[in-house]
Amino acid sequence: MNRRLIVNSIYARYGEVKVLHGVSMHLEPSEILVLLGTNGNGKSTLIKCIMGMEKPDSGEIYLESNGQRIDLVGKSPEEIVNLGISLVRREKAVSIIDGRRESLIRMLPQRCAEDLKKQSTV
Ligand SMILES: Nc1ncnc2c1ncn2[C@@H]1O[C@H](COP(=O)(O)OP(=O)(O)OP(=O)(O)O)[C@@H](O)[C@H]1O
Ligand SMILES: [Mg+2]
Repeated sequence: MNRRLIVNSIYARYGEVKVLHGVSMHLEPSEILVLLGTNGNGKSTLIKCIMGMEKPDSGEIYLESNGQRIDLVGKSPEEIVNLGISLVRREKAVSIIDGRRESLIRMLPQRCAEDLKKQSTV
């Protein structure tokens, strides 16, 4: 399926706690994008916004396919899953990327890449 996922300038918070401050990213077909960050800096919140589990204050999240645009903000998790976007368990995600371990390692900062290489030889 030739679709891109676009996230454009997302702001999100829990009550008074502002978590996402204008996050943007895009994901091309077949691309693996690694989201890195220290604890509590908003990675899960961004994923929850994409999956319809949290609603951003502002910004756009949409699928783009042959010039057509499908907005995800405001859709339920069920509708988003039916559009082909899924959350998978951490262990499953690792097995999905396992075959592409070398390209993943090239994308990571050196310290993380070294940790991953060590894990893969245990
Ligand atoms: N349901 C919630 N209600 C209130 N605050 C929350 C809630 N969920 C997360 N937060 C806060 O929002 C911020 C971002 O949390 P989030 O879980 O998105 O970070 P994370 O990058 O996924 O962290 P980790 O690496 O620990 O998984 C943190 O300050 C967290 O305490
Ligand atoms: Mg998290």
